[in-house]
Amino acid sequence: MVRTLGLIQLTMIGIGAIIGAGIFSLAAAVARDVAGPAVLISFLVAGAASLCAAFAYAEFAGMVPKAGSSYTYCAAVLGEVVGWIVGWDLLLEYTAIVAVVAIGMSGYLGFLLDAVGIHLPTWALGAPGTGSGHRIDLLAVAICLGVAWLLTRGTRTSARVETVLTIVKIAIVLVVIVVGFTKVDSGNLHPFAPFGYGGAFTGAATVFFAVFGYDALSTAAEESVEARSKLPKAMMLSLAISMVLYVLVCVVLTGMQHYSELNPNSGISSAFQSVGLSGLANVIAVGAVIGIVTVTFSFMMGASRLWYALSRDGLMPAWFGAIHPKRKVPHRATWLIGIVSAVLAGLLPINAVAELTNIGVLLAFVVVSAAVLILRYRKPQLTRSFRCPGMPVVPVLGIVFSVWLMSFLQWETWVRLGSWLVVGLVLYAGYGYRRTREVMPGGSVDLDALEGMSDTDGAGGGDDTAPATAR
Ligand code: ALA
Repeated sequence: MVRTLGLIQLTMIGIGAIIGAGIFSLAAAVARDVAGPAVLISFLVAGAASLCAAFAYAEFAGMVPKAGSSYTYCAAVLGEVVGWIVGWDLLLEYTAIVAVVAIGMSGYLGFLLDAVGIHLPTWALGAPGTGSGHRIDLLAVAICLGVAWLLTRGTRTSARVETVLTIVKIAIVLVVIVVGFTKVDSGNLHPFAPFGYGGAFTGAATVFFAVFGYDALSTAAEESVEARSKLPKAMMLSLAISMVLYVLVCVVLTGMQHYSELNPNSGISSAFQSVGLSGLANVIAVGAVIGIVTVTFSFMMGASRLWYALSRDGLMPAWFGAIHPKRKVPHRATWLIGIVSAVLAGLLPINAVAELTNIGVLLAFVVVSAAVLILRYRKPQLTRSFRCPGMPVVPVLGIVFSVWLMSFLQWETWVRLGSWLVVGLVLYAGYGYRRTREVMPGGSVDLDALEGMSDTDGAGGGDDTAPATAR
């Protein structure tokens, strides 16, 4: 099935994957704990870093518009081991995104349940350490497993449904901004940076979670040539629109309620409740749940497809990537991702999982920016539907910005990433290296294959056995 995705629809898909738990949940948590009203600076810094990487990302996404493409691309340019590290890293990242988003949704669902008088027992309200008596975030666990179940049943949201959900999400954000502005008390915005600008930068490393997601567009672009040529523009546009909305929401959020009183679980709804707009707070909570659910689907689907690609190329056992004969989905990979994300979501606080995601994304940004830079000099003649501007400054800035943001992350996050990469390298040495050579004589993708990809139609990726796409 080849569909025509126009610029507007692609941009909507981008926004659908970008706006999620980052603004609905992390903004309040970061404002309360480390940034105060200067959380808007956190968003701007994170957005600038993401923009530099997005330019580089767009250049390669226009060349290799396939699911799991950053891994393919990096393998071709920087070698199979680096490609594997990126693929393995993205697997963790996508799974952690699902967990963060589920925790975010759980906060708003809990807010709605409270509103109708249903109170969960204290032990089920959150991960250990998030409140006294908390043992597990039961709703978040249920969301991860529920989405995995739906996806293994072959459930797919159509582009039309996704567009509608994204419109609902944008509408809710606009309501928050417009109504919220009438309730801003400028006294709440002083002092602007109660934790200093260092606090705002530390916050940037966490809210960075909010400013990516446009990589989900590569999957959509797989479906048509037209989409592929519009992909880079859609990436930029969706990021730019999201950034404008984010900055305005930050002003409203910290202007309506004093930063120290913000609720980290259901920040925006609780802020509206605090100014006496309880009915609207409930509507926003419903909108947040609807809005965030698109992100859950996108990334769980993305993770299962990446797993499929790694299995197909011999880097992981084929058993994991097997496609269900009737439902045409990588069912085992989907369940594994569902279970792992449920464990993360149930037992870790949202900030910790968001940091884990961010370190993974930032690492991928560093490698992708470097690969784009190197390929420009090694293969200047390749067809590129989008060229990263300001070579070599922009990708170098992307690398510097990413490493700088990584430096703000807690040491536990570094240890978690390090352990994951060590496991990945052991797997590669013990399995992937040998198996890849059985599946693809000569090892995984080489530069010439990349050249082939950049010249051919991206539709379907020429891979008949690929699982059904999300859209
Ligand atoms: N940027 C996405 C979100 O905030 C992952 O949920």
